[in-house]
Amino acid sequence: MKGVVLAGGLGSRLRPLTAVTNKHLLPVYNQPMIYYPIQTLVNAGVKDIMVVTGGNSAGDFLKLLGNGSMFGLKHLNYTYQEGEGGIAQALALAEHFAAGEPLCIVLGDNLIEGNICRAVRAYRHQGGGAKILLKKVHDPQRFGVPEIDGKRVVRIEEKPQQPKSDYAVIGIYMYDAGVFDIVRTLKPSARGELEITDVNNAYIERDEMTWDELDGWWTDAGTFESLLHAGRLVAETGANKMEVQGANKD
Ligand code: G1P
Repeated sequence: MKGVVLAGGLGSRLRPLTAVTNKHLLPVYNQPMIYYPIQTLVNAGVKDIMVVTGGNSAGDFLKLLGNGSMFGLKHLNYTYQEGEGGIAQALALAEHFAAGEPLCIVLGDNLIEGNICRAVRAYRHQGGGAKILLKKVHDPQRFGVPEIDGKRVVRIEEKPQQPKSDYAVIGIYMYDAGVFDIVRTLKPSARGELEITDVNNAYIERDEMTWDELDGWWTDAGTFESLLHAGRLVAETGANKMEVQGANKD
């Protein structure tokens, strides 16, 4: 399995912090934001990683991350997203890199307390299709929200006004190589972007989607409130831990 960190976009919800730099280069407590999603992949044993960037200061990622030696990597791959086409459009840029292998996609502003080892292991056994991770939140309207029937996710709605559950679909997704054919069928949403939620709904319709609930805290860091919250969580409990207290052991 290969890994992709999506770190493009204009970060408009964080202006003026993002007026001259990329959101994913901003600090979250004592590290640049982009360090956390890369560490999430590395901790799950994913060593072949591509960073998709764009917008402001794209060249600074190379200067900051180099070949990824701070994560114990020998090499890092990079590509550049032009414009603001959305998460699914950024993902499409990884087709050449994926070369037919399954992918774990992590949004560059998503931080977790623990690790995704169990989910990655389960996905490997699944032998194709897709897997998403869910987390209970108090403000599901801000996220992709699943409608759950028994054990099955029957549909995901992007930022619904009346959420059908109190779960958020977090920004960590596992897909087989068929994902690129799905992206080619997508039409831009009302906000003019190719939505990752539409990709996930396509897998749900094919009955090829599974989900797990994430242990430990999860947060995005794309708004002032969530950026502050993320910094506090990292300072108080730490991120990307291999053992999370109180988590279900497998
Ligand atoms: C994106 C996805 C959303 C997901 C969220 C997780 O939202 O569209 O489904 O729940 O990331 O951080 P965005 O940050 O683009 O608003």
